[in-house]
Amino acid sequence: KRAGWDLKGQLEDMKALVQSREMMSSELQTQLDSYNQRIISLESHNNHLSGTVNQKEQQTESISREIEDLKRKLRNSEDDLDGTKRRLQREIDDLSFSKSTLERQKDSLAGELTASQTEITASTNIKIKDTTIMELREMIRIHEAKIREQDEELINQETMRRKLHNTIQELKGNIRVFCRVRPLLGNETQDNDGVIGHMTFPDKDGKVLEMEKLGDSTILNSTRGGNKLLFSFDKVFDPVSSQAVVFEEISQLVQSALDGYNVCIFAYGQTGSGKTYTMEGGRLEEEDKIGMIPRAVRQIFSTGLQLQQRGWTYTYIASMLEIYNETIRDLLSEDQTLTHDIKMKGKDSGDVHVTNLTTVNVTQESEVFDLLKRASHNRAVAETKCNERSSRSHSVFQLHITGKNSSTDESCQGTLSLVDLAGSERLKQSGSEGQRLKETLCINKSLSNLGNVIMALGKQDSHIPYRNSKLTYLLQNSLGGNSKTLMFVNINPREEFFNESLNSLRFATKVSSCVIQGRLILMSWE
Ligand SMILES: Nc1ncnc2c1ncn2[C@@H]1O[C@H](COP(=O)(O)OP(=O)(O)O)[C@@H](O)[C@H]1O
Ligand SMILES: [Mg+2]
Repeated sequence: KRAGWDLKGQLEDMKALVQSREMMSSELQTQLDSYNQRIISLESHNNHLSGTVNQKEQQTESISREIEDLKRKLRNSEDDLDGTKRRLQREIDDLSFSKSTLERQKDSLAGELTASQTEITASTNIKIKDTTIMELREMIRIHEAKIREQDEELINQETMRRKLHNTIQELKGNIRVFCRVRPLLGNETQDNDGVIGHMTFPDKDGKVLEMEKLGDSTILNSTRGGNKLLFSFDKVFDPVSSQAVVFEEISQLVQSALDGYNVCIFAYGQTGSGKTYTMEGGRLEEEDKIGMIPRAVRQIFSTGLQLQQRGWTYTYIASMLEIYNETIRDLLSEDQTLTHDIKMKGKDSGDVHVTNLTTVNVTQESEVFDLLKRASHNRAVAETKCNERSSRSHSVFQLHITGKNSSTDESCQGTLSLVDLAGSERLKQSGSEGQRLKETLCINKSLSNLGNVIMALGKQDSHIPYRNSKLTYLLQNSLGGNSKTLMFVNINPREEFFNESLNSLRFATKVSSCVIQGRLILMSWE
């Protein structure tokens, strides 16, 4: 301790103290700095980690969405297959059952034979013995042949099942052709007792139509058989097939419009063959006569509602137009002064758009039915001005469907187009003039171009001539690419239209054989 007077000494002490404090403080500062450094580095590490976590979460989410999507596709395919499998399994079961019945019969017959032989040995009447043995042998032979036949059929059934499965796969996203023969109506049933003599439906699967030219030769019955022509399609509907049965076959196709496919259904055939009946049907009040358009709309809306449970909400936009002499007319508008052009929305999107066309947001089937009524009213007005106009024009109903899934963030867009084509009958070009000649040329051009487009798609040509007619230009998104096409070829059952029917069937065969080669069979008749 310094003496009180030693001020200098005390000052020294103080200085030393201050110095030591300063040192301590700077040490602390350094420590503080290093801590700050640590904190910064830890924060950046933390940021990095949360980035990684986010990324992983997104990946997980997208993978589970994919899984959901695949599951749904798998379910659909399984349903398709299951139906076919079950049916074939039933047939196989039936056949196995009859096979074992026959085998039992054979065994018991063999037993009888042995018994008879013993009897015969004992018997003196050799003649009776021999005939009995022969009869029994014959019976056994017949039964054995039958068993062999059944065995073969079993194998065939299995092959068919496999073939069917492949066909189902092949047909998805492809072009299908259905043939429908309408019944004789009213006075037409008076000839031949109402029998359609020149057409037969020979196979039980309903895929073949046989046409036979009946002439003098049938009286002699000599060249019968030489006059036959077989046409095979994905489906042939005979005259008693109801609207419900026909729709059953297209309902799966219609449904895929909700999954984002573009679906196109045409009715082709001569005037009076049943195109409009097939597409629109009779009055909506008569349930069994309702046609494909209202049935399709009804199914779309009810399935759309069911899909709500899985998070989907759909919006629907409908339009209806007519193409007459390569000019578009809006069937939902009363204002006939407007003109309509086909335009592309955006350069590459390929989105087809008709200018000035009335499009209506619809939310339930009754609204669509009102539109159909409005269209047929507008058409009737035009018809009085120009006779038979509806059979000289194509009418096109379109439903644009947009779906969004709020829970999975998916979305899809599909269009259902149902087209009642102009009558395909060959009109004589010679003799017709003015308006009639123009109509004829336009119809011939647009129908043959439709055939060409479908064939070019089937052959996967690099150039598809969509723009050669208004119809194919309008439908170019719905033909080819991500689309499914179905053509009804409607046939008039009256014999006087034999040649016209043949023309329709040949057109349809050309369209369908471009898809799956080698289905055109037997063309023996000149
Ligand atoms: N499958 C069918 N069952 C009963 N009547 C039919 C059937 N197909 C067509 N018709 C009737 O035949 C006539 C001609 O049919 P329609 O559909 O107008 O022919 P298109 O439109 O090809 O000219 C109509 O009276 C229609 O009601
Ligand atoms: Mg019609």
